[in-house]
Amino acid sequence: MKKVIDDSQRILGIPEDYLVAIVPASDTGAFEMAMWTMLGERGIDVLAWESFGSGWVTDINEQLKIDDVRLMEAAYGELPDLSQVDSSRDVIFTWNGTTSGVRVPDANWIDADREGLVFCDATSALFAMDVDWQKLDAVTWSWQKALGGEAAHGMLALSPRAVERLERYTPPWPLPKIFRLAKSGKVSPDLFEGSTINTPSLLAVEDHLAGLRWADSIGGLTTLISRSQANLACLNDWVAHTDWVSFLAKDPAIRSSTSICLAIEDPWFTDQDPADQQGIIKQMTSLLEEQEVAYDIGSYRDAPVGLRIWGGGTVNTSDIETLLPWLDWAWDRTCQT
Ligand SMILES: Cc1ncc(COP(=O)(O)O)c(C=O)c1O
Repeated sequence: MKKVIDDSQRILGIPEDYLVAIVPASDTGAFEMAMWTMLGERGIDVLAWESFGSGWVTDINEQLKIDDVRLMEAAYGELPDLSQVDSSRDVIFTWNGTTSGVRVPDANWIDADREGLVFCDATSALFAMDVDWQKLDAVTWSWQKALGGEAAHGMLALSPRAVERLERYTPPWPLPKIFRLAKSGKVSPDLFEGSTINTPSLLAVEDHLAGLRWADSIGGLTTLISRSQANLACLNDWVAHTDWVSFLAKDPAIRSSTSICLAIEDPWFTDQDPADQQGIIKQMTSLLEEQEVAYDIGSYRDAPVGLRIWGGGTVNTSDIETLLPWLDWAWDRTCQT
């Protein structure tokens, strides 16, 4: 488990003075742990542009009931105005919005000498995108998302400023045992050496170590990022000469290379009512499943109807190339019925 921590820190380029822990309940557990232990000290700017980001807004408003919250939202396919963010407040955002295929282009909009803490749900970005760690204070991810490991635990990386907050500040609400990162004004050092709060799955640990070994064997983060970029480029070429689809994220600067979301452009489709559109996509994805070509590539249930293709570093570009003619085939078959 210490090797998971050390190898993750090395492969992802997490600064040496950041603490990294394995925590319960996947990315959701890790992100809620960060919010429950550190929020409430000051006002919050929270950004949301798809369903996972909106989930954190619900936590802040309805569960933690924090009053001083500025919500910055955008529709699916777009980003909120990042220049409005005030880094003297705590900031909450998702690096890559998995259900809309929209990512932040960089972290230049966050002040280097900020007073607030920056909480970043990075689960569908890490191992496939460059992340500016110095601008982030509490970062979370999971083992299954970008390395395709067995789902179980979450990972939490904390900057020295986040550790300082944990040791200085006690939130006004009760903290369940599985969220407790600090005891008597000190973070629990064991947690950052591979101990866990409750019983871990060692099968999942071994599986993740295998994923990390594979990441190392292909050349580490640089190779993972270029593999993901190549997958997006391949889809980009196809979308450019395919008239029935477009990217949900119109601006290439904010387009995800991991959760690549496609909208259907064909007027025959866009003229249908939403329930019929759902039916058409279901018909198409069922055809692809029957042919054992692609699974689970319909858009996420809360997102606009369309397709979503995983393009992270574990995916070979040759597999995306093989998929594309099948998408045209499934579309033609669906239009004809
Ligand atoms: C951005 C984002 N946040 C949170 C989650 C939930 O992750 P988990 O199931 O690991 O808790 C996901 C899952 O896909 C995600 O993409």
